[in-house]
Amino acid sequence: MRLLNRPLGRLSRHRRGPVAGLLVVVLGLLLTGGLYAALSPASAQTDNSAKLIKQGHQLFLVGCSFCHGTNGQGVKTLDGNQLGPSLVGVGAAAVDFQVGTGRMPAVQPGPQIPQKEVTYTPDEISALAAYVASLGPGPAIPNPSDYSLNGLSDQQLQEMIAKGGQIFLTNCTACHNFEGSGGAMPKGGFAPKIRGVDPKYIFEAMLTGPQAMDTFSNGNLSVDEKRDIVAYLQSLQDNPDYGGFGMGGIGPVSEGLFAWIVGIGSLVGVAIWIAAHTARSTTRKDSEVEDTQHEWEKAEHR
Ligand code: HEC
Ligand code: HEC
Repeated sequence: MRLLNRPLGRLSRHRRGPVAGLLVVVLGLLLTGGLYAALSPASAQTDNSAKLIKQGHQLFLVGCSFCHGTNGQGVKTLDGNQLGPSLVGVGAAAVDFQVGTGRMPAVQPGPQIPQKEVTYTPDEISALAAYVASLGPGPAIPNPSDYSLNGLSDQQLQEMIAKGGQIFLTNCTACHNFEGSGGAMPKGGFAPKIRGVDPKYIFEAMLTGPQAMDTFSNGNLSVDEKRDIVAYLQSLQDNPDYGGFGMGGIGPVSEGLFAWIVGIGSLVGVAIWIAAHTARSTTRKDSEVEDTQHEWEKAEHR
């Protein structure tokens, strides 16, 4: 009994000791912390995006603040022009489009900022986008399911191309031409050729309306309608021509000129041909007249 009692006594003395209490508290805290971290992914994400925004702001200060201001508020030059517009409320989609297509960072002001080699990695672009999105609510970067054409049946695709062609005709051809070949704009600008543009950037261009382009929000042109346009532009790229003589696809001017020169030209040709034939029959009459004259002369000689 003594032998058994002694270890038991020691154990309970340990249990009541101050170190044991501390251990229980520490274990409890660890457990609560672990459970909290495991069950609240939302707060973990906020930490993540706060980090992304901060990283984006650092990149922004180095590469963009010169024209857009240290807080994206825009910079006015002394003569009242914009060195760079305010980016408050342009949204992540505008940054993804402008930086992803190599338009931003601009090198120098001009009537239209040209596309250059893309200077930021995809990770840096999403950091910049997160920072600008944090300045004010604006269009987010679209989900791939909004513009992707993967997994569609041939028939679905044909229907989308037909619908997209109609929507494109009413909304986009004024600037980008019927075949998406682009065209000139006022003040030294131009609407670019848009065949072969990444579907994501087609979607974002509509969503954000860069430079002189109109903005087509999702309320204005639904996500499905935008995807129809993507399908139409993709089909132009797959069959770049409808066959025949495309005449550069630059629209009514060349087509009118074609009708003028070839149409009216061939009418003139036919007229000349008819005239030539009429002339020949007159000649025959002349010879007939000569023949009768000869006969008359012959008759006189007789
Ligand atoms: C040399 C000056 C300059 C620099 C540097 C510059 N920008 Fe710009 N940015 C402009 C100008 C000018 C415009 C307006 C362009 C236009 O309308 O064609 C513009 C437009 C934009 C737009 C489109 C705004 C809208 O209304 O849709 C975004 C987004 C943008 N810039 C982001 C950036 C980011 C991000 C950087 C840094 C990586 C950057 N810019 C660097 C001058 C600059
Ligand atoms: C008022 C004229 C105008 C209309 C209408 C217009 N665009 Fe644009 N679009 C432009 C201009 C100008 C640019 C070039 C902007 C820039 O470089 O900053 C552009 C750029 C684009 C780009 C980017 C091309 C690239 O190489 O990155 C796409 C894609 C595009 N437009 C698609 C469309 C679609 C689709 C429609 C119809 C829903 C449309 N646009 C309607 C003028 C227009």
